[in-house]
This record gives sequence, structure tokens and C-alpha cells, in this order.
Amino acid sequence: MARAKTQFICQNCGTAHSRWVGKCDGCGAWNTLVEEDPMGGIGSGPGKAAKKGRPVALTSLSGEIEEAPRIPTGINELDRATGGGFVRGSAVLIGGDPGIGKSTLLMQAAAALSRRGQRVIYVSGEEAVAQVRLRAQRLDAAETDVLLAAETNVEDIIATLSEGKRPDLVIIDSIQTLWSDTADSAPGTVTQLRTGVQAMIRFAKQTGTTMVLVGHVTKEGQIAGPRLVEHMVDAVLYFEGDRGHHYRILRTVKNRFGPTDEIGVFEMSDKGLREVANPSELFLGERNAASPGAAVFAGMEGTRPVLVEVQALVAPTSLGTARRAVVGWDSSRLAMILAVLEAHCGVRLGQHDVYLNVAGGYRIAEPAADMAIAAALVSSLAGVALPADCVYFGEVSLSGAARPVAHTAQRLKEAEKLGFASAVLPSSSPDLPKGGRGLSQMESLPDLVALIAGSKLRQGQQEAAE
Ligand code: TYD
Ligand code: MG
Repeated sequence: MARAKTQFICQNCGTAHSRWVGKCDGCGAWNTLVEEDPMGGIGSGPGKAAKKGRPVALTSLSGEIEEAPRIPTGINELDRATGGGFVRGSAVLIGGDPGIGKSTLLMQAAAALSRRGQRVIYVSGEEAVAQVRLRAQRLDAAETDVLLAAETNVEDIIATLSEGKRPDLVIIDSIQTLWSDTADSAPGTVTQLRTGVQAMIRFAKQTGTTMVLVGHVTKEGQIAGPRLVEHMVDAVLYFEGDRGHHYRILRTVKNRFGPTDEIGVFEMSDKGLREVANPSELFLGERNAASPGAAVFAGMEGTRPVLVEVQALVAPTSLGTARRAVVGWDSSRLAMILAVLEAHCGVRLGQHDVYLNVAGGYRIAEPAADMAIAAALVSSLAGVALPADCVYFGEVSLSGAARPVAHTAQRLKEAEKLGFASAVLPSSSPDLPKGGRGLSQMESLPDLVALIAGSKLRQGQQEAAE
């Protein structure tokens, strides 16, 4: 029999090479190849003699459908992100920066489920039992029936889980610490990670246990190791937040059993994570409405409206090339808005530095923020504060036209609830409320610029009259 050839696997993207090279052919990263034994991992191709296949029964698309059985935790923000609770027999990956609060969230979820009579096992590979106990005490979880183990060996973990009554939920914290005897490569390599995760997923599918896997995130914001793991699991959640702020967002990026645009919002306190039922109040908390360059955007996160403040600073540049810096939004989208302002509105920004920040470390993903961003930019450039009780939303096309966005009624309702009496939105927006007081409907971006410039004019006249 031919000797099994070793392969060199890129730890960044998973591309296999037959010999060692400095630069990966797949992703172009340097020095990421590690020698691994392709026969070592589960699912890495046929081992010895391939057994003869057995035909499976084919069926039709119509037929009985069962609703996925769920176990809600009772932590509303977590249940919202998972689509109504963890699905039995599914594997969920939770990623996030170190120290963001993954272990805290999962300990709280474990305690909540345990109080509801579920059998929960928490396997910690990163912290010793004493450390986990200390956290549990802080979170008032110490008196629950959550079972704890500090273990990293895949076979030992599976053996432990298989013993006694079937667990309802198992938490593996984290997958990067898993290592298996069956894979020959060093712990932490792609093969080890894949072998470990595959064994856990197989256990979940076989027994109907929900498997929650914690994964670390690299500097680039991906779950460390190849994206392979994200493909293997049923749901991927990211736990995000800013070190400088107390709140954390649980964002769904993949969910085979529910929507992917939901978020859960939490606040980190000295007693763990607290749910934030009304995120808008949080994001608008430190608002200074009287200063130029700030606009409130009426956004949507899944089915939930969220109001956030966008802040712009436009100042003459002191360098040869103007700077553009963005936090919390897409920088190419900003470049587009700046180009439209220049081309269609006569707003010259070539000699100005532009800084854009979304308040509270929040991240906007919607193009519907275009109008709010444009308003903040023009407001800062003109040095005129926008009305304090006004929200902005709407998409801007390259031709400068204001385009309606979805969920107009919901955005307006949330704004009204929080005391915003007026709104600037694209004309021909669908489902506007009857009466619609305080709505300024814009055909195009130049209209918006004219509106803000006009208010500067009025302000100037008022000051002159006084
Ligand atoms: P942790 O859950 O350990 O993060 P991760 O598992 O994502 O690495 O949380 C770490 C941070 O949270 C740590 O800096 C301390 C803080 N924290 C609180 O502020 N309050 C608490 O009640 C707990 C348990 C942690
Ligand atoms: Mg942790």
C-alpha cells in the first residue's frame, strides 16, 4: 500500500498543498502552512478499504413537516437571536472577541435552562473549574444543577456526555482547545478543529442534544480557523461589542431554523449580562442634540426598529490628501455619498477631512442610513445643528434620487414613541400613516441639502434680527 502522504494545510483558509511553500495559493497569506496528516481527520477521505454503499430510500418534497422542537431559555434577547430558543439536536456556534462575554452569556443561559428543569453540561477547556465556579457565583448561577467539566480531549468529552441521562444542552467553551487522539496533527490546527467539531455535531444529531460551541475570532473578525466550521453548524451567532461600551449585541449570521437578521441586545453589568428591551434608548442615551453634525437614523434590525445617532465631522484638511475615517458604517458607502454630494448637490468636500461615527459603537448595515449620513455631513459642513426632534432614513442612488426603504411605518412609529415629532424620508415611501404630520418627503438628495441650507439661512436671519 502506498504510504499516506502528508499535506500542508493553510491555517487561514484550509487550502491543501502537496509541499511546503511560504505563501498560500488559496488566500495569499504568508507562513500559514502546517503539515497535517490527511488520514487523521474524520471525513478526510477513505481510510483503508471503502465499504460497499447501501442505497437509501428516496422520498418526495411534500409530506409531513415537524416544527423544530425548541428549548427557550427565557432570556428574551437570546431567544430572539436564536429564533425562539435553541433547537434540539442542532449545533450552534457562538463567535466573538476574547473577553466580550461569551462565557458569561452561556453560563447565564445554562443556569436559566437548568432552572427550567433541563439537563445542562458546561465543558470548559479554557478555564479551570474554580474559575468557572467563581463566575457562576457572580452570576447567581452557583445554586443551579448545571454540570461542569474541565476537559479538552474529544473522546473523553464524548464518553462523559454519553454516560447517564442524555443532556439537553451541552456547551463547549471553546472549540479551539479541543483535541482528538484520532487526528495526528498538533492541537489547534485545522484538522484537530474539524475533527473535534465534527465529533460534537455527530453527538448532537445522534442524541438530540443541543450543542453550543464557542469559537474565537481572529483579528480579521472571522471565527479562528477556517470558515469550514461555520459551514458545518446549523446556526452561527456573533457576540459583538465595544470594549469602551457596556452593551453587547448578539447577531445571527446563519440560522437553518430561523431568521438571520435578528439581534439581541445586552448590557454588561457587575452581575453579568442584562437584557436591553429597548435598544434605541440606549443608543440615544448620551445625545447632544444641539451640536452640528449629528443626525438620528431610524433603522431596522430584523423585525425591530432601532434609533441611532450618526455623527459627522467635516473640517478643512491640513494635509495634501483629505482623510476619510468611518466607524460603524461601510467606508465605500461613505465614498459613494460624498461623490453624490459633490456631483449632484454642489457640495465640495475634496479639501475637507471627513470623519463619521455611529454612536455607542453600534454598526449600521442598512443602505437606508444614506439620508441620515448625508444630513449629518451637510449639517457639519454648514455648521448648523439639525432639528433635535427629527429622524432621517432613506436610500440614495448614484443619480442622487432618494429611494424609499422597507418598514416605513415601523420606523416612524418607533420615532414617535421616543418623542421624535418629525421625519425626513424619501417621497413615494409606501404605507405612510394617515395625516402624517411632520413628514418631509424628499425627491432627491439636493432637496435635503436645500432643506438644511435653508434652515441655516433662517437661523442667520433670526440672529441678525435679534
Ligand atoms: P467572559 O464571559 O469571560 O468573556 P469571553 O468568554 O467572551 O472571553 O467575560 C469577560 C469580561 O466580562 C471580563 O472582562 C469581565 C466582564 N464581566 C463583567 O463585567 N461582569 C460579570 O458579571 C462577569 C461575569 C464578567
Ligand atoms: Mg470565555
